[in-house]
Parts: sequence; C-alpha cells; structure tokens
Amino acid sequence: ATLTVDANAAGRAIPDKLFGIFFEEINHAGSGGLWAELVDNRGFEAGGHHTPSNIKPWSIVGDESNIVLSTDLSSCFERNKVALRMDVLCGNDGAKSCPSGGVGVYNPGFWGMNIEQGKSYKVVFYVRSTDSINIDVSLTSSNGGLVLATSNVIADAAKVANWTRMEVMLEAKSSDPNSRLQLTTTKKGVLWIDQVSAMPTDTYKGHGFRKDLFEKLVDLEPKFFRFPGGCFVEGEWLRNAFRWKETVGPWEDRPGHFGDVWMYWTDDGLGYYEFLQLSEDLGASPVWVINNGISHQESVETSMVTPFVQEMLDSIEFARGDNSSQWGSLRAAMGHPEPFELKYIAIGNEDCGKPYYQGNYLKFYDALRKAYPDIQVISNCDASSTPLSHPADLYDFHIYTSAADMFSKSNKFDKTRRNGPKAFVSEYAVTGKDAGTGSLLAALGEAAFLIGIEKNSDAVEMASYAPLFVNTHDRRWNPDAIVYDSSRVYGTPSYWMQQYFTKSSGATLLNSALQASSKAAVVASAISWKNTTDNKNYITIKIVNFGNNYVNLKLSIGAENSVQLVGSKKTVLTSTNVMDENSFQSPNKVIPSSSHFTLTGKDTNIMLQPISFTSFDVIQ
Ligand code: AHR
Repeated sequence: ATLTVDANAAGRAIPDKLFGIFFEEINHAGSGGLWAELVDNRGFEAGGHHTPSNIKPWSIVGDESNIVLSTDLSSCFERNKVALRMDVLCGNDGAKSCPSGGVGVYNPGFWGMNIEQGKSYKVVFYVRSTDSINIDVSLTSSNGGLVLATSNVIADAAKVANWTRMEVMLEAKSSDPNSRLQLTTTKKGVLWIDQVSAMPTDTYKGHGFRKDLFEKLVDLEPKFFRFPGGCFVEGEWLRNAFRWKETVGPWEDRPGHFGDVWMYWTDDGLGYYEFLQLSEDLGASPVWVINNGISHQESVETSMVTPFVQEMLDSIEFARGDNSSQWGSLRAAMGHPEPFELKYIAIGNEDCGKPYYQGNYLKFYDALRKAYPDIQVISNCDASSTPLSHPADLYDFHIYTSAADMFSKSNKFDKTRRNGPKAFVSEYAVTGKDAGTGSLLAALGEAAFLIGIEKNSDAVEMASYAPLFVNTHDRRWNPDAIVYDSSRVYGTPSYWMQQYFTKSSGATLLNSALQASSKAAVVASAISWKNTTDNKNYITIKIVNFGNNYVNLKLSIGAENSVQLVGSKKTVLTSTNVMDENSFQSPNKVIPSSSHFTLTGKDTNIMLQPISFTSFDVIQ
C-alpha cells in the first residue's frame, strides 16, 4: 500500500471543537463517580418522599433492642422533608448500657468509601434532639471494627432543640478503599438526622470532582462537554426527567431524583451549576441537552409545551445572566459571578420520531433565535442523508454498531451535503460481542470511524464517544471509556484511542491519498498542527490496519525539505489478541506505546502490524 501526504498544499481547517466528551449520569458516572461525595442517599430521600421509607444503603449500628431507626417528614428542608429518626434505647440512664462503640447508623457510600491516610474529609450533617447530644462521627472499616478517623460532637439541649448544622473535619490515620461513615452515640434519647455529607477536601480546585477521574478527562483535551445525558435527560417518565431547577442552590435543598432509565437515585450534588463549572474547568464548551417535554413513554403536546420552553430560557439566564437577573443572581450566589460561556443547546435526546417532537422543537428553536441568536441549536433529527424539515445549526447523530460496520462507516459522511446544518456525532461506540467490556477490536473500528470524521470535518462539526464512565459495581451499559471503583481507574482501549485525536480539533487536514489492495482494510489521515509546548509545527499521520495481516506501507510525505526526517515519533496501539482488554489487574495491557522512529527519506517503508492503530508525529 502507498500513503502519499501532501504537506505543501494549504489543506483544510478542521473545526476547533471537533473532539469533546459526552457525560451522562449512567453507570453511577457522577453519583458514585466523578462527583466526590462519599455518602449515598445523604438526605434519606432515595426511598421516596413518603414515609415510612427505605433508607438504603444506610444501615443500623447496633440492633433493635438498643436502637430503632425510622423516618418522618420533620426535616427543615422544604423540598426534601424526609429525616431520619433515631430512638436510642440504651445509654447512660443506668437501665441498659449501649454496646461499646455505641449505636447509630452507617453509610457504606457507593460500594465502599475510599479513605486515604493523611487526607481530610469534611463531614456535614443536620441534627435535632429533645435532649443534649453526644455523637461520634467516624470513618471506619467496612464492618466498623477499625476506626480510621473520628470526632466527637457535643451540644446542649437548647442548641439542638431546632435543626442545627454540624461540621467536622476528619483526618484519616490509615487507608481503606472499602470504608464507611458512622454516626453513633451511647446516650439514650431521641434524635433526628438529615442531609449528611462527607467530602474529601482534595477535589479538583475544591469544586467537588474526584481528582483521578477528572484527570482522565483532562488527558482527552476535550473541546466540548455534552451533559447531562442521554436518556437521563428524558427519563422513562417525565416525572423522573432531569429538571435543572431542582439541581441548583444549596446542596441541602436539592430534592434529588430517581433516574428511572438507568434505575438509580441521585442526590443531584452534581447539578446544572456543577456541570457548567466542570466544562469551564476542562476548558470545554458546554453543550446543554434540555428536556423538551418528551420522555421515553410520554410527550407533552406542543400547545402545552411553553413552560418547558421557559424552563430552557431560565437555564440560559442562570448560565449567562448578570447579577440583576433572577437566575443569574442565583449563579453568582453559588460562587460564579462571571457568566458561563454557554453557546450550544440540544433540544432533547433521540426524540426525533417521538410524538410532538417537530412542533416542540420549533417552539424551542424560535424562542432561542429570538432571545439568544448566538446559541447554536442542535436538532435530534438525522440530516446525514435527507435534509431536515426544520431549521437547525447542527443535527445529532448517534451510532452504536459492530466493529466491522463501524470500520466501514469511515465513509459515512463522504456524500453528506456540505451546505446544511453540520453533524454532531454526540454518541458513537462499537457495542455487542465485538466490544466485550472494552476491546482492542472496538477501539480500532472507532478509530477508523474518527479518521472518516476528520476527513469529513467540513460536514461533521463535533464528535464524542459514549458512554464515558462506568462504576464497575453498576454496569448498566457496556462498554464505557473509563472504568473505576472507589479507588482505582483505568481507560479502555477506546479511551486510549481517543488520545490519538486530541490534536485534531483546530488542526489542518492535509490532502492524503491511500492506495491499497481491495483486500487490505486500511484507512489513514494526516493533519498538521501547532504544538504550543515547543512552538513547533507537526504533521501527524494516523493509520488503522483493521486486517489480520501485516501491511507493507510506503509512506511518502511531499514537503519540500520542510519535514525533518529524524526525531519523529511512532505510536502504536495493538495487542496479541483482538479481544484483549484492560482491567484493574492489567490497566496497561492495551495502551499506546511510543518510540523514536527514523524516516529514511521522503519515501519510507513501514510495516503496519495486524489489528493495529499507528501514528507518526513528524516535526515540520
Ligand atoms: O449512551 C447510552 C445511551 O445511548 C444514551 O443515554 C442514549 O442517548 C443512547 O440511546
């Protein structure tokens, strides 16, 4: 095969936000994932807003002979009235002493809390009692046997007669990735507890993002950040859809909600404000997916969708409005007086064929054009083959398929018209048996697809893999790019594949021509880009060999002496078996490996390994 790269011609500018990320609250991506809150169900609301309630995963320390746990609606927080009541039957009245260590409740977090020696954890809770209180707040091993950190909270009856906020800082004396938080007492009486939070203090900039997961995102250099779903935005039923107004303001006041598509509760600590903050921290443009009155099972008629349109307008005021506006002032009060740079809104998720979508879409579109003409509006309807019947700046395109089909889709946008709205490939992934839980084969199919996107980046404006995150204890969707538990994290081959494309956004696509036998399954692209670290111009050539055989490739870079033929770098992503995956035990089994590579002249013969992704970086 021959690959000829023309580095002399001007090439074509690639959109500066071509590659980004898509975050969905799926697989405990936020709650029990990126959001560093250690307590699961911190307001005791997960069992519903009625009592008696199931307070899972909270559980009892002691037994029913010495403590009775129940719930009532006495909380001081109006939007989440459920509070925990503890009737302590043992204690210092002499009749019956409590077991050593006391009685109370514990929360195991999301399949264990990761507590690390020397680190600090801020615990906040609200308490009320008919008498004085004496509570031990402790981080312990999973069975409570070993205390990693503890603090004693004492208050007299007058102080806690009304709901009172308590805060303690715990410093861990030892480490355990499977810890729990306990609130215990040896004092007889009745007390109520609500809104219990335990946060590590070393989150990214103190913004609440778990650092190791945040850094995984930074390494992808995302240029946009689509959030908060996916189906999570829609809900199976509208009553369980993501409603941004219930996710802003003080965390204690947020009602939380049950995501009925991915079937778990979230306290909404990671709310609309935090998503905007996360976009800013990543240097990525927020792409806000708004519910347009449509869920999986029901649709609001267009004649009655105006309140949803208003909810969207309010969300933009929250992000961009100044301090004199109702919602802008709330954002400022939450700690961000400057506006967030919100420029993209997607009207719904995968709703194009659903009842009332077209009518509802137009209501949202018209309102946006009138109030915020600079906002790019994203339609759910696919315009890759037939034009849209409504105006839009971008259209959403999702693809989940086999590896071979994904490979063949490197041509998907070759014939798409160039003069309509651009494609936003906001969800792509190889799924099914080719994917395992994140195989090399899947990554190679996707790499070929992305090479096709680069080449068609006059028709495709943005692209992101999906889903991004999975907590290994709640794998609702398979595969996912970043896998973790309470303390460990690794990237799948698809995650590492995306790193090959980090320099493409805003680069220049060079003309390249690949000649190969019809049997060879090879695709390639070439870009040039400016490295801001060493201030040099680079050419990066990317090649996927999807076949089972070596391919002898003659690489020819036409560049009139301007390409340095030494000091170039070759990076390969491959493994011994196409279905090889990474794991907690072998996180680096399938990751790119780089080596110096000396080009021998303008024409260089290269052996492409079977089932491999290879890139060459050459200083221009
Ligand atoms: O990425 C998982 C799901 O796939 C998303 O929620 C949805 O948009 C798509 O169907």
